[in-house]
Amino acid sequence: MIYLDNSATTKPHKDVLATFMLVNEQYYANPASIHRAGVESNALLTKAREQLANILHTDEKNILFTSGGTESNNAALFGIAKSSNFRGKHIITTEIEHPSILEAVKRLEEEGYEIDYLKVNKYGVISLEELQQKLRKDTIIVSIMHVNNEIGAVQPIKEAAQIIHRTCQAMFHVDAIQSFGKLPVFFNGDNGPDVISISGHKIQGLKGSGLLAFRKKPQLKAFIVGGGQEFGLRSGTVAVPQAVSLAKAARLAVEGMPGNFENFKKWSADLHHFFEQFGQEVYVLSPKDGAPHIISFSVRGLKGEILINALQKRDIIVSTSSACSSKQTKTSHVVEALNIDSRFKNGVLRLSLGAINTDEDIASFKKQFTIVMKELKGEIMQ
Ligand SMILES: Cc1ncc(COP(=O)(O)O)c(C=O)c1O
Repeated sequence: MIYLDNSATTKPHKDVLATFMLVNEQYYANPASIHRAGVESNALLTKAREQLANILHTDEKNILFTSGGTESNNAALFGIAKSSNFRGKHIITTEIEHPSILEAVKRLEEEGYEIDYLKVNKYGVISLEELQQKLRKDTIIVSIMHVNNEIGAVQPIKEAAQIIHRTCQAMFHVDAIQSFGKLPVFFNGDNGPDVISISGHKIQGLKGSGLLAFRKKPQLKAFIVGGGQEFGLRSGTVAVPQAVSLAKAARLAVEGMPGNFENFKKWSADLHHFFEQFGQEVYVLSPKDGAPHIISFSVRGLKGEILINALQKRDIIVSTSSACSSKQTKTSHVVEALNIDSRFKNGVLRLSLGAINTDEDIASFKKQFTIVMKELKGEIMQ
């Protein structure tokens, strides 16, 4: 099977799996227990937190473990909104965020917060001028994703951070779930984002692992209450094996990033060029200068499911543009925001490349896609 759906989830790295097994076998004690076994688990947990803090250039007290990207994004928005509403209730985000942000701000809107959505251009990129115009004294959160999961558009995070910090006291949250380990994530220094979300299973780590990293001491209301774990912010017995596996996956991802990035760039340029040969029949939504591990395209008039099935029969695994909503039949909000020709709206597919892919995988995809296009010729609407 040729797996080209790495932005939906990745195959866990074998070293991560080995770490997970080892920690489960030897460090299963509750890290909050005061006996020797608990102290040892806690020491391991602290080490994982320190390693992640080092990678992210922050303090270990600023790392909160979560169950994944959705929880991190929800926690950032609900937690910050509820701890900052004495200053205001205005929130800015973009129209192409992941549903774990969009649904959270919808909920906050129902609770009386005011939400402004930044528009994107046809490459899926926000305008910094619009950001500047929308910022207000009572803006408490700005949440902008780094790399869009459906088309790979990259937002100008560094510039946005400078504008936000220069203009108001809003906390700048960045969903770095599709960028961490793939592109350098600008997080250090006073002019960076205040808080970022990371998910373990997107970086060859485990499902059920993730984190929120703060630049300074976390300023947010507890989002899970109970026994007061995770500095009183997220109660519940800490999943030490997931935390340690996340530290391992993050280290491997960052170490492998330069080599992987070169491969992604090469494959992305190759695929852009390949799709151009289909002329008016194929439209590539991903910008050429976007994140190279995501290439979204659409075949004119063809339903995405038809293409997915035809490729699957030939052992090529790809998704619709967003695997999270791939079972939904309506056009994705990201595709709608790009305002593309309606004949291309129903068939957007996403190739998402990962560390496990090879030159041969890309060559096989191109070969099989060419055959499938010939087979489906009759179904492609003119
Ligand atoms: C940009 C982005 N944010 C958030 C999420 C949610 O992450 P998780 O699957 O870890 O809950 C995803 C998952 O696809 C994503 O791509």
